[in-house]
Amino acid sequence: SAMNKELNKLLATAPAGIQQRARTEFDGFETLFGRFLHETGSSADWDKLKLLPDDAIKRYNSLETPAAADFKSLLSQLVVIKLNGGLGTSMGCTGPKSAIQVRNELTFLDLNVQQIENLNKMYDVDVPLVLMNSFNTDEDTQKILRKYSHIKVSIFTFNQSRYPRVNRDTLMPIPRSCADDSLEGWYPPGHGDVYNSFFNSGLLDQFIKQGKKYVFISNIDNMGATVDLNILNFLVNSPESQAPEFLMEVTDKTRADVKGGTLVEQEGKLRLLEYAQVPSDKVDEFKSVSKFKIFNTNNLWISLQAIKRNVEEKTLHMEIIVNPKTLDNGMNVIQLETAVGAAIKSFDKAVGINVPRRRFLPVKTTSDLLIVMSNLYAMRTGALEMSPKRSFPTVPLVKLGHQFSKVKDFLQRFASIPDILELDHLTVSGDVNFGKNVSLRGTVIIIANHGEKIDIPMGSILENKIVSGNLRI
Ligand code: UTP
Repeated sequence: SAMNKELNKLLATAPAGIQQRARTEFDGFETLFGRFLHETGSSADWDKLKLLPDDAIKRYNSLETPAAADFKSLLSQLVVIKLNGGLGTSMGCTGPKSAIQVRNELTFLDLNVQQIENLNKMYDVDVPLVLMNSFNTDEDTQKILRKYSHIKVSIFTFNQSRYPRVNRDTLMPIPRSCADDSLEGWYPPGHGDVYNSFFNSGLLDQFIKQGKKYVFISNIDNMGATVDLNILNFLVNSPESQAPEFLMEVTDKTRADVKGGTLVEQEGKLRLLEYAQVPSDKVDEFKSVSKFKIFNTNNLWISLQAIKRNVEEKTLHMEIIVNPKTLDNGMNVIQLETAVGAAIKSFDKAVGINVPRRRFLPVKTTSDLLIVMSNLYAMRTGALEMSPKRSFPTVPLVKLGHQFSKVKDFLQRFASIPDILELDHLTVSGDVNFGKNVSLRGTVIIIANHGEKIDIPMGSILENKIVSGNLRI
C-alpha cells in the first residue's frame, strides 16, 4: 500500500541503533492505520449494547480485608505501572505532567515514588514501580528519578511507541525522517499502547518469571490511585476458575463527570463505552447519571499472563480514537490512539468494582490543582488523604477562569493557597488575585468583568459571597 511504501522510506532513515525498534513500532502503527481505513466509523452499535444489571458491578465494601499476615505474599505478586507518557500542555507546561509540583515542592512523580517506597518499607516487600514514558517525557522523567538512585525502590521505565502523525487530506505520514525529533511529526498513541510496549520492553516476561501475577495500572496524575490490598486480595485469592483477568475500578458518576467512559454489556462481555463513541442522538442518554451510573477511573488491575497471551495471539481489540490536530504551520493532521480500558473485552472474567470516590483524584486542570494543594488534603506517606476537619467528605466544585489555566499564572494569582476546608463551590472569573491566608467558605463567586481587577485582601474570610467589580467586600 501507499502507506507501507512511505513507512519503508522512513525506516531507511532510522539510525542503526534504533532500526529494530522503529520497525516494531511501524508494524504496530500500520496495523492501527489499516484498521482505521477498514473499520466503519467510531460510533458504537447502540442496539448491541445492554445496560448492566445493578448487581453486575461489585461493591468495594463487599471485598474482604486480608489478614495482615498475608500482606507480604500478596504484594510479592504485584507490579505497579504509572502511565507517564502525557505532557502538561493543558496546564501550560512544556514538560511531563508528572513534573508539576503538587505539595512541598514535590511533583506527582515524587509522590508516586514515595508512596511505593513507603509501601515497601511498611510491609518489607519490593513492589516494582514501572513508568511508561513517551519520547516526550522520558528525558525530564529520568532527571527527576536521579534523586532516587540511592533509595530502596525498584524503579523501571520503558518508552511507549512513537507513531507518525498523518496528513488529514492525503493520509500520508508527516515526518520525513526518523531522526527528525520535532514534536510536530510524531505522537504517543494513547495509553492503550501500554500492552504492546510493556511486552516489547521485555519487562512483562521478566516480572512473570519472578512470579508476579497482577499489574496495577493507573494515571500518574490520579492522586487517589494507591495500591489497595482488598482489591489485590480479591484477585489473588479468587478460586482459579473465577479469578478475573481484568478488574476496572469504577465510581459513582456525578454531574461533574458526565463525559467519563462507562461499562456496558456487549455480546456477553463487559465493554467500555466512551463519550466519543456515542451516536449524537444518544448523548443525552449517555450523560444521564441515573441511567449510566458509574464511570471508569482508569485504575486497572490486569493479569500479567493474560496480557502476554493477548499480545502474542494479537487478540487485543481497542476501539480507535481519531484525534484531529492542527500543526503550528496550519496543517491539519490526525493521530490514531487507543485507550487502555477499552481492552477489557479481550480479557476473561472481567469485573468492575465500584470504589469510593477517594480513589479518583485526578489533576486535569489548575482547579483540580488548587484542591490537591490545599489544606483539604493532608499528605501521608506520599498519599493524599482528605482532612478529618472537613465536615462532609465531598470535594468542593472549583471553577477557575482561563486567566488561571496555566500553572504559572495560577501560582502568581494566589499569594498562598486559600483555606478551603469549608468550601462547597468556588467560581472565579476575570482578573482576580488572592492575598495571603484567605479563607473561602460555602459558595463563593468572584467575577471581575472585562477591564476590572479584583484583589482579595490578605486574611479575608469570604463566606457565601458574591464579589463583583462594583460590589467590594
Ligand atoms: P490524559 O490526562 O491525557 O487523559 O492521560 P485523560 O484526559 O485523563 O483521559 P483518559 O484517561 O485518556 O480518558 C491520562 C494518563 O495517561 C497517560 C498520561 O500521562 C496520564 O497519566 N498517557 C496518556 C500516556 O501515558 N500515554 C499517552 O499516549 C497518553
